[in-house]
Amino acid sequence: MTQILTVPTRPFEGQAPGTSGLRKKVKVFQQPNYAENFIQSVFDVAEREPGAILVIGGDGRFHNRTVIQQAIRMAAANGYGRVLVGQGGILSTPAASHVIRKNKASGGLVLSASHNPGGPEEDFGIKYNIANGGPAPEAVTRAIHARTQEIDRWLTVEAEDVDLDTPGETRIGELIVAVIDPVADYADLMEELFDFAAIRKAVAGGLTMRFDAMNAVTGPYAVEILENRLGFAKGTVVNGTPLEDFGGHHPDPNLIHAKDLYDLMMSENSPDIGAASDGDGDRNLIIGRGRFITPSDSLAMLAANMGGAPAYKGRLAGIARSMPTSAAADRVAEALGVPCFETPTGWKFFGNLLDAGKVTICGEESAGTGSDHVREKDGLWAVLLWLNVLAARGISVDQLAREHWARFGRNYYARHDYEGIDKAAADVLMAGLTDGLPALPGKSFGRLTVRVADSFSYTDPVDGSVSENQGIRILFEDGSRIVFRLSGTGTQGATLRVYLERYESAGGLLDEETGAMLAEQIAAADEIAGIRRHTGRTAPDVIT
Ligand code: G6P
Ligand code: ZN
Repeated sequence: MTQILTVPTRPFEGQAPGTSGLRKKVKVFQQPNYAENFIQSVFDVAEREPGAILVIGGDGRFHNRTVIQQAIRMAAANGYGRVLVGQGGILSTPAASHVIRKNKASGGLVLSASHNPGGPEEDFGIKYNIANGGPAPEAVTRAIHARTQEIDRWLTVEAEDVDLDTPGETRIGELIVAVIDPVADYADLMEELFDFAAIRKAVAGGLTMRFDAMNAVTGPYAVEILENRLGFAKGTVVNGTPLEDFGGHHPDPNLIHAKDLYDLMMSENSPDIGAASDGDGDRNLIIGRGRFITPSDSLAMLAANMGGAPAYKGRLAGIARSMPTSAAADRVAEALGVPCFETPTGWKFFGNLLDAGKVTICGEESAGTGSDHVREKDGLWAVLLWLNVLAARGISVDQLAREHWARFGRNYYARHDYEGIDKAAADVLMAGLTDGLPALPGKSFGRLTVRVADSFSYTDPVDGSVSENQGIRILFEDGSRIVFRLSGTGTQGATLRVYLERYESAGGLLDEETGAMLAEQIAAADEIAGIRRHTGRTAPDVIT
């Protein structure tokens, strides 16, 4: 029997999980007791039987290995029976979700700050996922936070570091620690879902791609699946080695941080499809030759075509999207006669809908798409579904997009981010917007007249839980829309997100420049929120 050590501690301020777990600078996590307090709070509130299984994995960023060793010792002291940890401390977020589900684990610790940069001066994060493989719902994250505010001890054992690089089992007291292959189970799952033979045939027939792993977690997964199993040429996966600092880049697959890929895809010698994923492998970017697909459109286009993949044939129960995501998917749902759900931002809100079988595919404007195969969004899954659709239908990304808009119309869409603004100024801006809501309906901004203005509130149709203040919505009479919210994933100051959308029906202008199509909404957004006045900014830092 290994002796359990009780280490006295005191609460830290600010250990409230945000949109996606607890994210802070590495320096904050390096403080004695900081990570331990949070992990102990998770273990104190997590539902589990004695001897339960815990999955631990991360995106390989700086500080990953340190926290994994801490968490393993603490799991031993807290009565877990088995820890499954990815070799090298690696598990992409969707792979972790799959490992939790496949092994009937009680939950998992996903160590990542997603698309935020990594390194000693950058970000780290810890997220707890529950037994369904998905991010802990708000009731659980609230309980974790409450526990962090009163914690006075954490439990550990004295033990050597586990060798994370060698697959196999070791024992720490009663706990068995299994170092598992992080890729194999996930790659097998993908092979079950999709028609690999059809994709292989298309590859043999000349289909080309580039996948930018951004020196983040998806490198090994993409090499195994795209190059080894599907036969894409060696070198199809670029930046395929996970690095602790992601090579100094932001591992965020958008047009700013994956600019090289974008430039290639817009050039004459582009492959047929370009794709990228983020730090922990749950986001995706899809660009066809000469054609960028917005995440909102990607959700709609995949939903309309996913029946072409074996796992989804004749099986679309419903679609869910986060509120700020464009309504393109709603039109597909309507045409196919299936329900469409609108949830707050954050993948955790899809969990109940997926568990209840109400939806088959979900997506967010923040480059996340996924299905009921796991309970996280899944970057490579989205890429493979695109490949499956293209291979099954024998068309290009651009052709598919045009065909889609010609049938459903097009939701022109953009998100403007104002990053690193003063937190107090951001709060004043949002409070001003909230206070001004009742006076907005009927008011005009240029040619736009406000129809409805509200603060989005969500009642979960499965468990009835209510989440309020999930973003300010301004809906105009012409069907266009502006949404304002503050990001819940940053670690410095505040980020204001402004989501702009305008619908153009099937017979209308379907291939125009997005910025020009949204000019009126952009002007109205500044007028309504006073962005310049409150932030001093005259232009967004990032447009996606
Ligand atoms: C994470 C979550 C997503 C969410 C995104 C944006 O990636 O997993 O579900 O959409 O963050 O969050 P934010 O609060 O920064 O807009
Ligand atoms: Zn991510």
